[in-house]
Amino acid sequence: RGLRVFDRGFLNTAVIQSSITYIDGDNGILRYRGYPIEQLASESSFLECAYLLIYGSLPTQAQLSLFDREVLLHGLMHADATGFFRSFRYDAHPMAILTSAFAYLGSYYGEANPSLQGQDLYTKCAKGDPVALQNMDRQIFRLIGKATTLAAMAYRVRQGREFVVPPTGMSYTESFLYQLDHLSPTDAFSTSSSSSATPYKPHPILARALDILFILHADHELNASSTTVLQAGSSLPDPYSVVAAGCASLYGPLHGGANEAVIRMLVSIGSPENVPAFLAAVKRREKVLSGFGHRVYKTSDPRSFIIRKVADEVFTVTGPDPLLATAMALHDEALKDDYFVSRKLAPNVDFWSGLIYRAMGFPMDFFPVLFVVPRVVGWLAHWRQMMLSPDGVKIWRPRQIYVGPPERPFVLLNERE
Ligand code: CMC
Repeated sequence: RGLRVFDRGFLNTAVIQSSITYIDGDNGILRYRGYPIEQLASESSFLECAYLLIYGSLPTQAQLSLFDREVLLHGLMHADATGFFRSFRYDAHPMAILTSAFAYLGSYYGEANPSLQGQDLYTKCAKGDPVALQNMDRQIFRLIGKATTLAAMAYRVRQGREFVVPPTGMSYTESFLYQLDHLSPTDAFSTSSSSSATPYKPHPILARALDILFILHADHELNASSTTVLQAGSSLPDPYSVVAAGCASLYGPLHGGANEAVIRMLVSIGSPENVPAFLAAVKRREKVLSGFGHRVYKTSDPRSFIIRKVADEVFTVTGPDPLLATAMALHDEALKDDYFVSRKLAPNVDFWSGLIYRAMGFPMDFFPVLFVVPRVVGWLAHWRQMMLSPDGVKIWRPRQIYVGPPERPFVLLNERE
């Protein structure tokens, strides 16, 4: 107290102690609860990683089956929600719909709201109260389960299509693809033709690719949106409002909007021969090389290597994206260029992810939604960890350094010049 350190953009401020995700930015290392991201991406499933991130250890078969069942059952939405989604304009940005939808969801569940149930609703969890802990778990299952449903509803309402009830007997990502029942331009999204009477079946390679992308996006330590989640959560609103706050933060082009910015950049470059001119403009600070650079990684983001391989798998089904050659040229040229090397700017997770989503036929403005769905897990892991802190929750209230005018007397309106 008393001494204030000015740290613009939190470059050097640690605000929590956490045991969720470890990043070594100098050596390109990322681990969830101690497990290397490379092993999780090749051996695990998204819901298994979700359990790991939230509860701290890998689940047994029985724990995983129960978790999967609870999450998937909670995918069902109240029929009244149809009216909420239909109230948006046909061209509303899906992130605007999704952000609002999470807050709207909270209005159904007063049981999760400390303003209604008492300020000690979650402190009881920290003290090990089994009923309070069960209540907290229920909100977690529900938020993860409904994230795909809300995202699919935001997607379909813009196409004027009916909503799809979450199926049974499918994995989390298969269920998501099923609910989207996506009209891919290549028709490769599904193993059944959209014109046939056969029920829609997500393509197994694309479903697994999406599952890996979801694992890679599930958490990333104290990024802007997870910080927002903790900041919002520290005043004890319900977890639905907390997730809506995270969504709002992720929406920005410097965070969850970066993969969309990559595609716009590649389209504007047009072809590999225009790459040198584009990089020259970046060096003159007229342009930003989207998908490059990271606050923490000062070498390649380890997720970018995994995602590059996933892209190859996806392209075997969808065919290569026409922007791939430009992306490769840009990637290779930038990594050789002293401007980027000296600033330790390397590809981040978003450099390739947009190309995968594009090849799968998703519209660009849906890319951030594909980031939110898995990141809900990371947000909830951070929120739960804070709520269960044995020291209790401390409201996040930073200080500023005031640089405005000193005290001055008020001037009446008719006396102002
Ligand atoms: N293109 C050109 N120059 C860059 C870039 C870039 N993408 N990123 C950083 N620089 C320069 C920056 O101008 C500065 O140069 P100088 O020292 O000469 O002034 C130097 O590199 C250091 O960068 P910084 O701005 O201090 O880095 P930061 O930690 O504040 O910002 C960042 C990190 C991710 C916002 C930034 O690298 C960026 O804007 N990248 C492009 C957007 C992007 O790909 N975002 C996705 C991030 S990963 C996913 C996620 O977290 O959501």
